[in-house]
Amino acid sequence: MIIDPLGRRFKNLRVSLTAACNYACTYCVPDGKKLQALSAELSEAELIYAVRLLIDAGGVDKLRITGGEPLISKKFDALLGSLRDLSLKDIAITTNGQFLKKKLPVILDAQVSRINVSLDTLDASAFRSIARSGDLATVLEGIEEALAANLKVKVNCVPIRTSNIDELLPILEYCLDRNIELRYIELMNMGHLKHNQLYEQEFIGMDEILDKIGRKYEYYKIDAPIDSTSLRFEIPDYGRFGIIANESEPFCRTCTRLRLSSNGQIFGCLSNSKAFSIRQLLDKPYPIAITELQSILKSAMQLKQRLAFTGETTVMKFIGG
Ligand code: 5AD
Repeated sequence: MIIDPLGRRFKNLRVSLTAACNYACTYCVPDGKKLQALSAELSEAELIYAVRLLIDAGGVDKLRITGGEPLISKKFDALLGSLRDLSLKDIAITTNGQFLKKKLPVILDAQVSRINVSLDTLDASAFRSIARSGDLATVLEGIEEALAANLKVKVNCVPIRTSNIDELLPILEYCLDRNIELRYIELMNMGHLKHNQLYEQEFIGMDEILDKIGRKYEYYKIDAPIDSTSLRFEIPDYGRFGIIANESEPFCRTCTRLRLSSNGQIFGCLSNSKAFSIRQLLDKPYPIAITELQSILKSAMQLKQRLAFTGETTVMKFIGG
């Protein structure tokens, strides 16, 4: 197992199936142009082998499938199907929800523990201005169907001053009413937002979010697992919510994440654009590939920040957050 001097090891693997997305969210892309797939995506067989190797070489026991938007990838069904034979404790998916209804049978058929659906507003026209595509009603139907099928659903919401500040409480109430755990994600200084005034203008921090909630509800902080990225809160008799406070309370010190991009590069840190290609390992036999991968993982581990996310022009799109 690979452990760094701060005691961190890789436990969570996040696999970006494709960089392509059917949305063009304002905080992700500057120009309204939807993200396209990277030019040299791994094949289905390569991807499945890469995931198996990373799980074994890194000592990973949790997997999250991300994008771009993973549900639009042709490899989605096959990857999900392949995970059954691996010894994973937890399989999760992050999606924008647009194709959730359509893909629900495949998701339910695999051993997916939970899904995170991105939802930044409950207002249909604000939704169109943020996502610049898609439609809110279909996403909400997908969420209802997933809940009805007993799938555990979380909602991710990125607070953005000019887009959804008045939606932060309604989204919380929507989630609490459905027993969904909401995660507010503080806007991260990534991609086109970095080196841009826009970031400071749009950022809404944890204190402000809590202040808004506190005007209407009593809440208190509860414990979260040590390597969790989110701070958790409970509103008595109503439910829980979390805040991923990248800026206000950085969590690099306990980060256990490892990322694989759709073109076969691994990233040890979201705040560092340095990556290592593992494509050349994917036609090698298992024992050789594992040994070589372990040495790459050691280098990737050294990229982790000691304390805080410092921003990087890498866009969330490539490595799925
Ligand atoms: N800051 C915070 N969250 C972001 N996401 C995408 N870009 C950013 C950013 N710059 C969110 C998406 C999705 C999750 C994977 O990351 O909304 O819910």
